[in-house]
Amino acid sequence: MADNKRIVLSSDHAAIDMRQAIAKHIAAKGWEVVDIGPTTPESTHYPKHGEAAAQKVASGDCALGIILCGTGQGIMMAANKVKGIRCGVCSEPFSARMTREHNDANMLSIGARVVGESLALEIVDAFLDAAFEGGRHGTRVDMIKEIEA
Ligand code: RB5
Repeated sequence: MADNKRIVLSSDHAAIDMRQAIAKHIAAKGWEVVDIGPTTPESTHYPKHGEAAAQKVASGDCALGIILCGTGQGIMMAANKVKGIRCGVCSEPFSARMTREHNDANMLSIGARVVGESLALEIVDAFLDAAFEGGRHGTRVDMIKEIEA
């Protein structure tokens, strides 16, 4: 399970409404939400928002992160360039649960142009309710860390 109950949220312009819906949803579940924006709808660049959220997780300030862009792909790629980040992009709850249980993902990416809000909230719940299983999966996550090192 997460080390603390602080979770960082960020997105690009394509996902502001969905990000704010997720923030409200998870705050109601007891998470301390650190929403680093953006809040205005001007076109922006997903790499800087993915990196900023990833740094919050990599530094230990937040236990987990949820990031969004149109597809979830670009912002996920940016976040995964930060050392210590394992971010999966998910469009259904099964993958969101498994990326925590097997891959020890510490960030979740969602495409706001891919899934509707209700499904996004189910994906978020599946991610947050899951825990890393360790064991043989720990061996494999350690192998990912070795590649990174
Ligand atoms: C922005 O138009 C779009 O490219 C971005 O939100 C995302 O889908 C990139 O991966």
